[in-house]
Amino acid sequence: MFNLILFGPPGSGKGTQSEKLIEKYGLMHLATGNILREEIANKTALGLSAKGFMDRGELVPDEVVIGMIRSAIENNPGIRGFLFDGFPRTVAQSVALDNLLAEKDAQIDLVLALQVSEDELIDRLINRGKTSGRTDDVNENIIRARIGEYENKTSPVAGHYSKSDKVVKVKGEGSIDDIFNQLTKEIDHKQN
Ligand code: AP5
Ligand code: MG
Repeated sequence: MFNLILFGPPGSGKGTQSEKLIEKYGLMHLATGNILREEIANKTALGLSAKGFMDRGELVPDEVVIGMIRSAIENNPGIRGFLFDGFPRTVAQSVALDNLLAEKDAQIDLVLALQVSEDELIDRLINRGKTSGRTDDVNENIIRARIGEYENKTSPVAGHYSKSDKVVKVKGEGSIDDIFNQLTKEIDHKQN
């Protein structure tokens, strides 16, 4: 298996680049934010429990997202690999993910960390909020709350994986194609 984490703050381009990477490498996209928004749209109990946190720009509790990832890994045996987008977002989630993969004799092979300035993140998300319908893009306060959660709780995840030298920083500003080329260069280097 080849398992990749696409890491970065809200608006750094994780979703945009994931779409292209899964196609090129035949990985399965596991994006906890997308799964949660689907649960909300389907008005499931899980979705209802997550909605308040998401609307405020806060992380949903670890148990909820870890359970979602556990099911996804268990329901997809024999897969080439997973691309994790928006997960893990706390050190506790990283430890849980490492354990789930170890049960399959697998591991995280690479963490690609997109680097984007805070001003650019806010511009991108305010802009997307005009048309996306995402309730967490509607105003700058919620966007800043998301970035605050990232700085406090999520950035330590990079520290967790840098202990095993798995983290590579990639500039996340510029054209989508140039960023994609940098990401593929790092993946190809790791796979060879
Ligand atoms: P989630 O859905 O993961 O959102 P996010 O991390 O806040 O990030 P986004 O999806 O907004 O940004 P992105 O990095 O994917 O960038 P994108 O490609 O869209 O999480 C939402 C919420 O769910 C969380 O706040 C939390 O409540 C909950 N949640 C999810 N996972 C969780 C977890 N594991 N634990 C706890 N809670 C969890 O791009 C952004 C914009 O920029 C787009 O408009 C795009 O077109 C544009 N863009 C992309 N690339 C470029 C470029 N190179 N130049 C210019 N514009 C660009
Ligand atoms: Mg996204």
